[in-house]
Amino acid sequence: MTADSSPPVIAIDGPAAAGKGTLARRLAEHYGFAYLDTGLLYRAVGQRLLDQGNVPLEADVAVAAAHSLRPKALENQALRNDETASVASQVAMIPEVRQALLRFQQQFAASPPGGAAGAVIDGRDIGTVVCPDTPYKLFITAGIEERAQRRRKELRERGIESIHGRVLQEMKDRDARDSQRDVAPLVKSKDALLIDTTEMDPEMVLSAALDHLSTKGLASL
Ligand code: DC
Repeated sequence: MTADSSPPVIAIDGPAAAGKGTLARRLAEHYGFAYLDTGLLYRAVGQRLLDQGNVPLEADVAVAAAHSLRPKALENQALRNDETASVASQVAMIPEVRQALLRFQQQFAASPPGGAAGAVIDGRDIGTVVCPDTPYKLFITAGIEERAQRRRKELRERGIESIHGRVLQEMKDRDARDSQRDVAPLVKSKDALLIDTTEMDPEMVLSAALDHLSTKGLASL
């Protein structure tokens, strides 16, 4: 528990395919915390619109989808597709969609499920908007070429062949939308530790994160 007796939250932000998810899962395991991948919330809203044939999207339909989102929707494997990611990044520009999803995220932080002692939450605005008061903030990034390579590898492992130029362009478009939107853009919180994972393996990233968190006073179990 932190001074105000709310559970500790590790906030991880950064662009797509920088290594946030891998690090978040490892930190959650290390501390025994619950993990929330907030990208899934936006992806689930995007997927709902795709399923309903509502793309190109209309803001009010997206807002209604965000309000009616159920946790079960986060288990859909289709959420991992790049088409869904692209629509997710478009619905994420709509302020009312963000507002509707904020409550779910803050609730998760305040009462981590399964009786966990804390939470690891990753996304784009966790350290800036969702949990700005947490002292435990990490900003994970990597060069765009490296991130595109990682995405292609991930797709290949799922049996999907992709074209480098297309994956790179989609990633650039998504970065631009996520970083340049008016509401809660992707930006490093001033008090977050920046980790550039371009030339690091997951072990090195975990070790850098653990060093920082322990400096900030987060004790290991
Ligand atoms: O992390 P991801 O690639 O699964 O996220 C998909 C999209 O959702 C991302 O391009 C932007 C949006 N998103 C957001 O705006 N805020 C978050 N906290 C998480 C994701």
